[in-house]
Amino acid sequence: MSYETLLLETRGRVAVITLNRPQALNALNSTVMTELCDLLGKLQTDAAIGAVVLTGSEKAFAAGADIKEMQSLDFVDVYLGNLFSGWDDIAGFRKPIIAAVSGFALGGGCELAMMCDFIIATKTAKFGQPEITLGVIPGMGGTQRLTRAVGKAKAMDLCLTGRMMDAHEAESCGLVARVVDQERLLEEAVAAAEKIAGFSQVAVGMVKETVSRAFEQTLTEGLRFERRLFHSLFSTEDQKEGMAAFVEKRKAVFKNR
Ligand code: HXC
Repeated sequence: MSYETLLLETRGRVAVITLNRPQALNALNSTVMTELCDLLGKLQTDAAIGAVVLTGSEKAFAAGADIKEMQSLDFVDVYLGNLFSGWDDIAGFRKPIIAAVSGFALGGGCELAMMCDFIIATKTAKFGQPEITLGVIPGMGGTQRLTRAVGKAKAMDLCLTGRMMDAHEAESCGLVARVVDQERLLEEAVAAAEKIAGFSQVAVGMVKETVSRAFEQTLTEGLRFERRLFHSLFSTEDQKEGMAAFVEKRKAVFKNR
């Protein structure tokens, strides 16, 4: 598989996707969107892949949607063309996907990182929703996912002022799961992805589905959904194996059944 704006590397059961438009700080143009959707679609059905890491360069995860590509569009263009709707496919990817963020994750870059299941960042990472400085607002979920991740106060602060927050602030307000040194970023993200890929993919898929639900519905509905999925896992061989392995003090061997 060869792409103009992406690099793909496979490490065991982990696919590492690197955004590769260094000349534009990985700005997300329509080619990136189309290629990423295409690649994730293939990885979705590839049984050899259990988890994905999405990363950028040391300077930028992604500096936003491509402003030069959007600049001349008018309302009718973006409304009838449903600009950015293709990104919804990325949020709908069903395998675990970790964003490994170094440098700028701004606008659509921050939104893309938030579409992933969790974010591991370097100390140099900077997150922000600077769309307000361009006369627009976040258009790929920034007002919704950021607010759910960090709460109203921080989300309003970032979206209304357009300021950037550093990795430390992003971790302390819950946007980022882990902060690591630059040289450890990929290693840490791949190790986490490998660990996830080693568990029962049935249970992993259900964790992703049900934690994601917490963002979409009331606590009561979310808890009910969680309970039903939890019950359903008792129909799997992996549940029997996982619990037997614990009792027998050995490592579980999951078969994804
Ligand atoms: C297109 C971009 C870009 C972007 C950077 N570049 N960000 N091109 N779209 N989002 C290009 C620059 O034009 C420049 O190309 C090259 O990348 C290097 O960028 P510099 O600005 O020279 O780098 P630096 O001085 O280090 O500043 C880094 C930066 C700055 C602070 C990240 O590039 C910046 O502010 N970028 C825009 C960030 C932003 O506003 N993002 C949100 C976009 S809107 P040349 O050819 O000049 O060398 C969005 C959602 C919109 O994401 C939703 C609304 C519907």
